[in-house]
Amino acid sequence: MRRLIKNIRQLVQVRDRVPPPLRGDDMDRLPVIENAYLIIEDGVIADYGPMEALPSSDADRIIDASGRLVLPAWIDSHTHAVFARPRYGEFIDKIKGLSYEEIARRGGGIVRSAEALAAMSEQELFERAMRYVEAARAYGTGLMEIKSGYGLSTDAELKMLRVIRRLGRESGIPVKATFLGAHAVPPGMTRKEYVRLIIDEMLPAVAREHLADYADVFCEEGYFTPRDMDLILGEAARYGLKPKVHVNQFHALGGVEVAVRHGAVSVDHLEVMTPGDFEILADSETIATVLPGCSFFLGIPYAPAKEMIARGIAVAVATDFNPGSAPSWSMPMAVALAVIKQKLTPEQAINAATVNAAHALEAADRAGMIRRGAPARLWISQPMEHYGEIPYYFGTNPVGHILEF
Ligand code: NIG
Ligand code: FE
Repeated sequence: MRRLIKNIRQLVQVRDRVPPPLRGDDMDRLPVIENAYLIIEDGVIADYGPMEALPSSDADRIIDASGRLVLPAWIDSHTHAVFARPRYGEFIDKIKGLSYEEIARRGGGIVRSAEALAAMSEQELFERAMRYVEAARAYGTGLMEIKSGYGLSTDAELKMLRVIRRLGRESGIPVKATFLGAHAVPPGMTRKEYVRLIIDEMLPAVAREHLADYADVFCEEGYFTPRDMDLILGEAARYGLKPKVHVNQFHALGGVEVAVRHGAVSVDHLEVMTPGDFEILADSETIATVLPGCSFFLGIPYAPAKEMIARGIAVAVATDFNPGSAPSWSMPMAVALAVIKQKLTPEQAINAATVNAAHALEAADRAGMIRRGAPARLWISQPMEHYGEIPYYFGTNPVGHILEF
């Protein structure tokens, strides 16, 4: 099956080769072909170029994309898309003035989600999560990471991870799974006891069933310390699970340094950064993933993404989709917030949500850009002239039509 898309107003994020994670000035360069064609053969990008160079070969199907753009699918490299129930009661409490941390201290938050999840069947959990993944897809997401972490017991964590694996098989979107046992300390246990359980029971069970690609720890006051993270990541490495971690959301506790020392693929959140954290990240291979939807929803500071880029750090943008701090699966909204609130240029924000986000999932060889030989996970936009209109029309869906996923 050979498809031709012709008269594309802008073909965005075209790369001949897979670039390394983009840093500095490269983050501000978004390769675009104006008035372009694209040929897809059996789900793979076969060719592209300017319309003047369109080869005169046959196609089984021709799509005229006049007045529209074509982009690679977004990569959402940080989500908690498997959960049992929304937490809109807490949402109202937040609107009335309670902070995320106060809500957690009153028994809400992650622990509340864990109670609901324990009571829900695996099938029901799957069906609910499938609706979220499909919703994300409709906004152009073509590869997703999903974390466990609302289990907080071995059985429930495994249940979540099985659901995540099944989503990867059945949703049509590839899904990477992250084991986040260390998301909160469950009631009735000390932190030390729970870290032991993670190390002695959960990690071996997760590894035995090949249920995770990465390991995560929520390193934060009231949750887990850098020392806990050090222990858990050290053990996780024995099972081949690389770190992708939550650090510096409310406090900078030294988690960035520990994570980078363990070769973290990404460190995520980073709303609070020390001068040392900037230096460590600039000298590392680790991607800094910022989650502006969480700052927007909780009313906390935004990660200083613009300064990170100026300091040579490779920045990715993700949704953090979850029921407590960021209930939006919209990557276009995350991109808009990165531009409007974090002052990234549209070029930087789109690079952060595609090429760098693909690197944050070690998937840049098959996602995040338009490249010959790569799977054709693309979307055709609503009518627009320029990719800058994607963040400009914030809160709306720029996707007109999804191709091949
Ligand atoms: O990334 N910070 C920790 N985890 C999530 C929130 C989880 C929740 O509140 O349910 C986050 O913001
Ligand atoms: Fe998160």
